[in-house]
Amino acid sequence: MDLNSIAAFLAIILWPTATSGMLTSVDPPTNLQVTDPGHLGPLHIRWKAPLSLISKELCVVRYMLNYCNVDSTNCKRVITRQLEYTDGFNLNKGISVKIQTLVKEQCINGTELHSNWVETVYWPPMQGHAGSKIVDLQCIVYNLEYMDCIWQNGMSAPHDINYTLYYWHENLEQTMECNNYIKNQGSVVGCHFHSDDLIEFSDFNICINGTSEMGLVRAVYYTLQLQDLVKAAAPDQVNLTLSRTDTIYIQWKPPAGKIKPHCLEYEVQFRGKYSDWESRVITEEATSIFLNVTAKSLYCVRLRAAVNIFCADDSFWSDWSSVQCLAEHPDGGDDVIIKLNVLAELIVLIVLASITLALCLSTLYCWVRWKSSIAKKKLNMLLNEDAKNIKKSKCFDC
Ligand SMILES: *[C@@H]1O[C@H](CO)[C@@H](O)[C@H](O)[C@H]1NC(C)=O
Ligand SMILES: *[C@@H]1O[C@H](CO)[C@@H](O)[C@H](O)[C@H]1NC(C)=O
Ligand SMILES: *[C@@H]1O[C@H](CO)[C@@H](O)[C@H](O)[C@H]1NC(C)=O
Repeated sequence: MDLNSIAAFLAIILWPTATSGMLTSVDPPTNLQVTDPGHLGPLHIRWKAPLSLISKELCVVRYMLNYCNVDSTNCKRVITRQLEYTDGFNLNKGISVKIQTLVKEQCINGTELHSNWVETVYWPPMQGHAGSKIVDLQCIVYNLEYMDCIWQNGMSAPHDINYTLYYWHENLEQTMECNNYIKNQGSVVGCHFHSDDLIEFSDFNICINGTSEMGLVRAVYYTLQLQDLVKAAAPDQVNLTLSRTDTIYIQWKPPAGKIKPHCLEYEVQFRGKYSDWESRVITEEATSIFLNVTAKSLYCVRLRAAVNIFCADDSFWSDWSSVQCLAEHPDGGDDVIIKLNVLAELIVLIVLASITLALCLSTLYCWVRWKSSIAKKKLNMLLNEDAKNIKKSKCFDC
């Protein structure tokens, strides 16, 4: 064997290993599929590795997913090494899912390789015409105790329409139907959920569909975050005290229930006898404030509560507490004592002022008398040399 044939032999043996690790292009994944497990929002996306990469165990292969509703520009991008991905979707529209393969490190020379995109569009079943679906769903979680969801019939919903509500969240094995429908004149207009049905800080998925003799009814889907839909109970036991002449002390009890006091903020409204309500929002935990008031007139106060931004992204204001007013003619308590004190101070002031005035007047009187007597004395001395006739003058008032 000469050197050339040894080199050729080595080249044949080594060539496949030298090049097997080096890729110059990469294929997209295959079998991209979107499936609906029936949880009213989450969809499973699955795919298979490109055939050309199956034997390349050393390669670090990742996939980039890009997905959104068909007419949306607000797409999400996710990179994963798995062959499946699950996320929540808005099932009222078609869903576009794109995926590409990414390869880097051992398998290629230099930077990362991207395959072309493969795309699929998933269309949730959309039966019935759009006018048959419910509109204006409004859900409120009352004081974290229960939730009521109310809706309006679709614009062109048939009269015999019978809506049904289904819901799912991650603590439920399967989708449940509402078991406390709210009815108005015989037709279903909402659903009442007990506290056991509720979940916070997790998707709460709702589907409202229905039946009618006149045809199919369009389903509509919602995904809610219940912690953002809380309406607290109104604050309780609001007490007012006039603590100084220009300050009102307001105390209240946070609404009883499951909402933690540190999660509440308050709006205090107050007004004088002839003025409009003025507002002050207290964002930190509190159960009392001092209010400086300008005019000494009848003051009225009311209060409402809401979940603050430290505990939720959004919330509803509670109803107002009952209006509490400072009594105009108080007949007991601190305010009377304060008013009596003021009166006493006034009387003392008047007495002191009168005494001072009296003293001044009498001093002035004496001074005038004294001056005039001196003048008389001088005149007498001038007119009459006889000093014995001069009477000593005396001020009896002094
Ligand atoms: C690797 O990349 C370098 C520079 O880009 C190039 O000179 C070299 O030929 C490449 N090698 C292979 C095996 O592709
Ligand atoms: C309404 O939706 C639920 C949940 O997806 C489904 O089980 C049910 O069959 C639907 N009803 C109708 C009439 O389409
Ligand atoms: C308000 O006054 C009532 C009656 O005096 C009292 O029972 C209640 O505890 C007071 N509330 C607060 C918040 O102090």
